Amino acid sequence: MCAETQCPIAPSSDVGCYGRPIALGYTDQEIMTTHSKTVVITGAANGIGRATALKFAAQNDAVFGADLQYSDENRALLEAEGVTCLMADVRDVASVESVVQTAIDTTSRLDVLVNNAGVGMVKQIDEVSDADWNMVMDTNLKAAFFGCKTAITTMSEQPSGGSIINVASNAGLMPRSHDPVYSISKIALVGLTKSLALCHSKDRIRVNCVCPGPVENTQMIEENFVGRSDRQQVVRELIHASPLARAWDRMISPDEVADAILYLAGDGARMVSGTAIAIDGGKSLGVPPA
Ligand SMILES: NC(=O)c1ccc[n+]([C@@H]2O[C@H](COP(=O)([O-])OP(=O)(O)OC[C@H]3O[C@@H](n4cnc5c(N)ncnc54)[C@H](O)[C@@H]3O)[C@@H](O)[C@H]2O)c1
Repeated sequence: MCAETQCPIAPSSDVGCYGRPIALGYTDQEIMTTHSKTVVITGAANGIGRATALKFAAQNDAVFGADLQYSDENRALLEAEGVTCLMADVRDVASVESVVQTAIDTTSRLDVLVNNAGVGMVKQIDEVSDADWNMVMDTNLKAAFFGCKTAITTMSEQPSGGSIINVASNAGLMPRSHDPVYSISKIALVGLTKSLALCHSKDRIRVNCVCPGPVENTQMIEENFVGRSDRQQVVRELIHASPLARAWDRMISPDEVADAILYLAGDGARMVSGTAIAIDGGKSLGVPPA
C-alpha cells in the first residue's frame, strides 16, 4: 500500500504510484519538454481542426490529421507545414483506430488526441430519421469514444501519459431548441470527457473538452445561412447572442479555439482534467442583457 496515495500498489525503484512504470533515465519533465509531441487531430481539413493542426505543427510537433476529404488548397497548406494528411471516415471504428495507430506506428508514441470531427443537424425530432441520428452520433460521439479507446491503450503505457481534447460545443453545456440531436451528442461528449478523465487520471492521461460558440470561417457555421437571404443579418444575430462577441463586435475565430486546445495539450495544464472550457464569449452563461 502506498502511504501517500492509498493506492494498493506501493511504489518501488521501477514502479511508481498506481503501478505505473517509471521512465528510466528520464524525468517526466524531460520527456515532455525535450521531445516534440505526437498529435492526432480528426476533422483537420477545415475550420477549427485545420487551425489546431497548423498551431501544433508550428511548435514542431509531429501532427497527423484525418478527414473525409481535403481541398487541394488545404492539403497543400497543411502539408507545407509538415502535417501528415490521412483520409478517414471517423464514423467507421476501424478507420479511426487506424488513424491513431498510424501515428503510433510512425513515431512510437502518442501524446495528444484531438477528437474534433463533427457534423451539425438542424432538425426537430419529428424530422429526424434513424440515419440522421446515426450520422450525428457516430461522428460526434462514437468516433471520439473509439479514438479515446485506441489512444488510451498507448498513452497508459507511457510514463508521461497523454492528453485528449474533445471538441464539444456550447450546446454541450446548454442544449438548444433548434438542434436537439446535435445538442444531445455534445452533452454526451462532455459526459464522455468527464467519465474518462476520472477513470484514467491514474494513467496520467488527462481528458478535457472545449465548448465553442459560433466560430467564423468554418463549414459548420455555414448551416446557419441556409434558407436565409440576408447573410449579414444572420452574422449580427450570432454576434448578438454572445456577450463578449457583442462587446468585440465579431465572431469567435478558429485560432481562438485552437489556442485553448493547445493550452489543454501543454505542460501548463498538467493538473487539469475533466474540464469543459466554454469558448463562447459567455453565451452559455445565461440570457444576455437586451
Ligand atoms: N463552427 C462552429 O460554430 C462550432 C461551434 C461549436 C462547436 N463546433 C465543433 O467544432 C468541431 C469542428 O468543426 P468546425 O467548426 O471546424 O467545422 P468544419 O465543418 O469546418 O470542420 C469539420 C471537419 O470535420 C470533418 N468531418 C466531418 N465528418 C467527418 C467524418 N465522418 N470523418 C472525418 N472527418 C469528418 C469535415 O470534413 C470537416 O473538415 C466540430 O466537432 C463542431 O461540432 C463548431
